[in-house]
Amino acid sequence: MTKVIYHLPDGTTQQIDVDPGETIMNASLRNNLPGIVAECGGSCACATCHVHLPQEHSHHFAEPTDEETDLIAYLDAADDDSRLSCQLVIGNSDDEIHVHVADSR
Ligand code: FES
Repeated sequence: MTKVIYHLPDGTTQQIDVDPGETIMNASLRNNLPGIVAECGGSCACATCHVHLPQEHSHHFAEPTDEETDLIAYLDAADDDSRLSCQLVIGNSDDEIHVHVADSR
């Protein structure tokens, strides 16, 4: 069970336990957290699930696909830590993973 700490757009944090195989996006929606909208439902087509993933946590996830990188390039708030949370699948780890949620509303 991985603990994901969501740093939310309003400055608060929420800690969620996430099972392997679930995405950061899905766990956010499941807990009604603000910020991640996920209009396309996780198909890597909308970029309304934008998060900033600090470098020290990036090794938990696969490298972004070209599709993901192309979508991120259109975001005003994009930076080197930008990822689409529907593409961030939790693996087998007991670590804590921090993500900073962009406001996609
Ligand atoms: S939910 Fe649409 S790109 Fe992630």
